[in-house]
Amino acid sequence: MVRIIKFITGNEHKVKEAKGIFQKFGIQLEYTDLGYPEIQGNLEDVARYGAEYAASKLKGPVIVEDAGLFIRALNWFPGTYSSYVQETLTNKGILKLMNDVEDRYAEFRSVIGYCTPKSEPEIFLGTVSGHIAYKEHGNHGFAYDPLFIPDGFNKTFGELTRNEKNEFSHRRRSLEKFASWLNSKSD
Ligand code: IMP
Repeated sequence: MVRIIKFITGNEHKVKEAKGIFQKFGIQLEYTDLGYPEIQGNLEDVARYGAEYAASKLKGPVIVEDAGLFIRALNWFPGTYSSYVQETLTNKGILKLMNDVEDRYAEFRSVIGYCTPKSEPEIFLGTVSGHIAYKEHGNHGFAYDPLFIPDGFNKTFGELTRNEKNEFSHRRRSLEKFASWLNSKSD
């Protein structure tokens, strides 16, 4: 049985990444840029609220994703402000804040919120650890990708192809958790 799930997002990079990941689970992804209120809170709160809102509006099963970059030396900034900070401060501003900072540990986190009109929202967290480069490298991917060097690599996400990033990204991990959970349900 092919399951059809609507991904609520306006970010086409996320859609492409998610489609590649879902193929092997037999889940067909459609997407809608419905928009949903982003409440104040952590990634989990935003994903839970957004999924519930979208499922009741669209009257069907939906996923939403809330993600961000968390830098330890900056007290986990930009975190839940990642989207706004990317638009305002940009990668150059992050590099300025990290000038002379030795601890460059960072992680991407992705939380998938899933909800249907008949069920409570469920959430699935995926993370990937790495560190912040000293300058931007690569032009693949989007947003913070040229800054983030995942553990075990000497290249940024911006220098990896979509398939390479998809093998182990935060989004891969949260979406896979979700897809395995969905496929293990009998209904
Ligand atoms: P959103 O609110 O879930 O859309 O994501 C917050 C922000 O985190 C995005 O606008 C990006 O700036 C950043 N972000 C999330 N995932 C990634 C990624 O895979 N690569 C680079 N930046 C990301």
